[in-house]
Amino acid sequence: MTALTLSTSAAPGLRADAIVIGVAKGAKGPVVAPGAESVDKAYDGKLAGVLETLGASGAEGELTKLPSPAGLKAPLVVAVGLGAEPEKDSSFAAEALRKAAGVAARALTGAKKAAFVLPLGDAADVGAVAEGVLLGAYSFTAYKENAPKAGNGKAPLAEAALLGGKPRDAAHKAALARAVAVSEELNRARDLINMPPNDLNPEAFAAIVQTAGKEHGLKVQVLDVKALEKGGYGGILGVGAGSTSGPRLVKLSYTSSKAKKHLALVGKGITYDSGGISLKPAGHNETMKCDMSGAAAVFAAVVSAARLGLEVNVTGWLALAENMPSGSATRPGDVLRMYSGKTVEVLNTDAEGRLVLADALWAASAEKPDAIVDVATLTGAMMLALGSRTFGIMANDDAFRTAVHEAAEEVGEPAWPMPLPEHLRKGMDSATADIANMGERMGGGLVAGLFLREFVGEGIAWAHLDIAGPAFNDGGPFGYTPKGGTGSAVRTLVRLAELVGSGDLG
Ligand code: BES
Ligand code: MN
Ligand code: ZN
Repeated sequence: MTALTLSTSAAPGLRADAIVIGVAKGAKGPVVAPGAESVDKAYDGKLAGVLETLGASGAEGELTKLPSPAGLKAPLVVAVGLGAEPEKDSSFAAEALRKAAGVAARALTGAKKAAFVLPLGDAADVGAVAEGVLLGAYSFTAYKENAPKAGNGKAPLAEAALLGGKPRDAAHKAALARAVAVSEELNRARDLINMPPNDLNPEAFAAIVQTAGKEHGLKVQVLDVKALEKGGYGGILGVGAGSTSGPRLVKLSYTSSKAKKHLALVGKGITYDSGGISLKPAGHNETMKCDMSGAAAVFAAVVSAARLGLEVNVTGWLALAENMPSGSATRPGDVLRMYSGKTVEVLNTDAEGRLVLADALWAASAEKPDAIVDVATLTGAMMLALGSRTFGIMANDDAFRTAVHEAAEEVGEPAWPMPLPEHLRKGMDSATADIANMGERMGGGLVAGLFLREFVGEGIAWAHLDIAGPAFNDGGPFGYTPKGGTGSAVRTLVRLAELVGSGDLG
């Protein structure tokens, strides 16, 4: 990952491949953002005019490269758009800085060192720019024959100095350290999501968690097929029954001696979702390696909590299975006896996420945590409702849903509250079992949420994040979001753990 430093150096004399500056959209054209005054001076104070001539407006996501004048040691200036100029006496939103830093970092792929001269108001801005750089510089190249190496022009930006950051300021240092820990884990989640499903099966995923657990002093318990059978985890076993790679339930615990609260996180970890016997048609299965994004997010969040030493206990539950059709696969019409004791008639084997989550939610509930949050690429319906960049939040508690939404907004993750309409429950009535795994087609994302709610222990605040839209980016990169696995929900979960730990929630 890109090495970050806080630097008090002046931009003009700095030896670097590029200087990154911010451009805002002013009332009368582009405006050079605060912090870059010395760079503007090197252009005789005409940088805004030069940018305008080059067609720059300061819009978010815009990138303009221009050669340096004689007064700058770095040969290249990269101007990134920050969007509308803030009102007097207010500063740029953290998310605008994060996105701009991400766009610049990606454009500097292959460069050794860049100086970021963006408007840094407070420590939160330092954290935002650091996150933007680290997340924007990410690329997944492990499977390329000519994998980028330092020096061949394809490696991520090696070094970034944040000018205006204060290397001796405790708040700045803490913000940087937090950004590094969370971004590193988030990028690891992206790697897992991008890994092809022939390499990342439930067993391999569990082994990766065990290794990380050792490294960070976390307790890891893996239930294999035998243990799942002994425990009666019919949902996880039913989904994994068709695959030659057996399912796993992984419990990953971080405990703090100062903790007063306990947050449980549950992740859907379908390492590949073919649909099972209710096979997905071609065109709907090419990116279904991303169906373990929820588990990857939970994994990253628990490790982040440990690295940050949060004063809260966080337990991650990863429900890992591969959903495949075969002679041993669960059939539409089969009835599963779930870990909770309820029976489920499987009407569609492609509605598998709720089955593995149900068992993990019930297992998490047995410990009576203060709150449970599950994360899942659960329904295509949520994608239809909210598009590909926003996740839906459902909950059994209005205040908790609002708190989760606020946490998501705070970290720059687009999310939206969704209801759990009671009338949709009867669509899941089954003639044979306690409940069916499918209901009305309309409002499919909410139906899935209602199903999950039945497997949450009495009296526990619970929220469900359906990240089917934002988990995987099929299109081109934007902001600090790369193509492929995005690491959606990781930052929201970490923020929630912080809030629960500080007693502000749960
Ligand atoms: N993993 C899919 C949901 C999904 C779709 C995630 C697209 C990411 C992108 C899930 O297991 C699924 O297949 N859901 C079905 C449920 C239906 C059969 C009730 C769906 O949404 O079609
Ligand atoms: Mn499915
Ligand atoms: Zn799925």
